[in-house]
Amino acid sequence: PADLTGPALDLLVVGGGLAGLTAALEAHAAGARVALVTKTVLGDGSTRWAQGGLAAPVGRADVAAHVADTLAAGGPTVPPAVAAAVVGHGADAVRDLWRRGVRFDTDPDGFWALGLEAAHSRPRILHAGGDRTGAVVAAALAAAVRAAGVPVVEGAFLEELLLDEQGVHGARVSGVDVRARAVLLATGGAGQVWARTTNPAVATGDGLAAAWRAGALLADLEMVQFHPTTAAFGTRSLISEAVRGEGAVLRDESGHRFALDVDPRGELAPRDVVARSIAAVMARQDARPVLLDARGVSARLGRPFAERFPQITADCAAAGLDPERDLLPVTPAAHYLMGGLRTDASGRTSLPGLWAAGEVACTGVHGANRLASNSLLEAAVLAAVAVADLLADPGADRAAVGADDEVLDVVDPAASARRSPLPRAEIQQIAWEHAGLLREGSGLELAGKLLGLDEDPATGPLPADASPAEREDANLLTVARLVVTAARARPHSLGAHHRSDAVPTPAAPRRRSLRRTR
Ligand code: SIN
Repeated sequence: PADLTGPALDLLVVGGGLAGLTAALEAHAAGARVALVTKTVLGDGSTRWAQGGLAAPVGRADVAAHVADTLAAGGPTVPPAVAAAVVGHGADAVRDLWRRGVRFDTDPDGFWALGLEAAHSRPRILHAGGDRTGAVVAAALAAAVRAAGVPVVEGAFLEELLLDEQGVHGARVSGVDVRARAVLLATGGAGQVWARTTNPAVATGDGLAAAWRAGALLADLEMVQFHPTTAAFGTRSLISEAVRGEGAVLRDESGHRFALDVDPRGELAPRDVVARSIAAVMARQDARPVLLDARGVSARLGRPFAERFPQITADCAAAGLDPERDLLPVTPAAHYLMGGLRTDASGRTSLPGLWAAGEVACTGVHGANRLASNSLLEAAVLAAVAVADLLADPGADRAAVGADDEVLDVVDPAASARRSPLPRAEIQQIAWEHAGLLREGSGLELAGKLLGLDEDPATGPLPADASPAEREDANLLTVARLVVTAARARPHSLGAHHRSDAVPTPAAPRRRSLRRTR
């Protein structure tokens, strides 16, 4: 493995998904001394599981419409300049991915094969390997990082960020202090906080929790996207929105197509709307899943379902189901953390020396309801922009980061990780029941109590030789507490943050950053 104990690096990248891999490649190409560390293996993480694809305005004429769709789905808190910047760099990101070996699918005439997903006004979702987009992206970029000779350390757990009066100057990774002029966190989301999630096991909020302990601002943590259609069978994997984009419909147990009762856009209404309509139907049918009817998709596509969606076909087949013939039981599950480490449009956090990109970051572009497939777009764009920014100006000014947000001070004296007194399954169940798709004040209060939110944590610090699982549990508890804190502080509904006891939503709701105080 690479030796990271020498002179300070220009950049330490933490995380091996799309954002981390892109950052490492960009920094290496710019001649910087960069290394990448990752908790498991290169290419692991949520990127690998992305099905639908990467939304990008590959036709230049589409930029304005893509920005408009992003703003409409995300709602009033999305900064328009950030949406314009992310979408505006989309075509460049696609070109760079292609250059690095990602072969997006094309149609028989050689044009991009573009999918349609919810709340997009036109098809603009690039995909690869049918519905194996993330796996194709991760494999190509991991190979490119290895071919470039970027030092990589796998199996390396981010324990703490290293701090001095100037800010972040490295990270302790699996007991080793790695010094760097800049650290870029690309550690992904925290879907494992919830009992049901589309996220892989590694999504435990490690970067988010470490940045919190280091004193960085975190924003919009109440904004958690629940994907409407996760298989209620087999491995409970995602069933891409692209399937609904190709004409699949949702039915209740009696066969009624209920999505149109709620929104004229039906199954392609924004995700939060569809997920809540499914939850309402499930509540009426004793919590049994709703049914995804994809039997008409192959006729509409003019080719077998399995050709366009090989991964979903395989997942269904493993459970004895055939999407061409059977109705598929589906339920919502936690999918994407729209909040995260507060950054500006260049990925700068509130701490000097620290940048973030990908799901761990919160530029605000996803607002309260991320537009489908904008996450791979943002990860690729922000990683490249952040690296250009940090190499040009490692001492960049932080005054503007979060300056327009409401700031909530959260008393939390723990500057280093502490042992979780709760087993993981308990944290996940509390979050699912009380900080899930539907929330209300009393449930959030109860969740706060169960998670020990308002008490001084009675547990001691994690020992230096704590296992990765113990460290993950500590991080999951931290993130769960912060999600509940953020959700309690927003008494109105906004996008994915939906309260059954909501007060009226203000005309101009603001973003909220959480700041750790002792
Ligand atoms: C999907 O394929 O439905 C997921 C796309 C996304 O979450 O952006």
